[in-house]
Amino acid sequence: MNSSTIPLISRRDALIAGAAAAAVSSSAPAAPAPAPAVPSDATVPRMKLSLTVNGQAHALDLDTRTTLLDALREHLNLTGTKKGCDHGQCGACTVIVDGRRINACLTLAVMHEGAQVTTIEGLGTPQNMHPLQAAFVKHDGYQCGYCTPGQICSAVGVLDEIRRGVPSHVSADLAARPVLSAEELRERMSGNICRCGAYSNIVDAITEVAGSRS
Ligand code: FES
Ligand code: FES
Repeated sequence: MNSSTIPLISRRDALIAGAAAAAVSSSAPAAPAPAPAVPSDATVPRMKLSLTVNGQAHALDLDTRTTLLDALREHLNLTGTKKGCDHGQCGACTVIVDGRRINACLTLAVMHEGAQVTTIEGLGTPQNMHPLQAAFVKHDGYQCGYCTPGQICSAVGVLDEIRRGVPSHVSADLAARPVLSAEELRERMSGNICRCGAYSNIVDAITEVAGSRS
């Protein structure tokens, strides 16, 4: 092509044209996305619920979507139970329901009508600690302490499972009484994550309590 036929455009003209195009496109707003339907209070499904938590009876009236973890923390002000992942992956929310340890973030409160719930607040007090709480202190089984309520509630469940002869994934003989080894404890506590890495001290604490009870 003959260069004489190419229209000449200065750099300044190009910048003005670009700015004008940007202004036109930004001044033409895209159609707003439809707002998600937010249920009004009148349409939120609610249910009355009775729970006994740490020996105290509670009558609750909850949005049926409330997890047990949120019921404990937000409605009963029992904030010892921690929310780590809210997805069943860290164990920080472990509590004991009708004698079994569960992740409170993975279950709806309304599924536990009439249940007996034990949280870290129900195990002991600073003046009268549960043996596992005392052992965690003695063995430095924590650093920041965020995972600790879940670790201790889980450990209570572990010792009860071993006492009842419940095998784990690493039990060599499913019919034999579980051996209280570090391997067993690590496997049974593997659902409780500690970002501070206090694992070996946690095993020491649980082992001491298990040994003193056997
Ligand atoms: S908060 Fe429930 S498992 Fe992490
Ligand atoms: S003590 Fe910090 S996460 Fe376990």
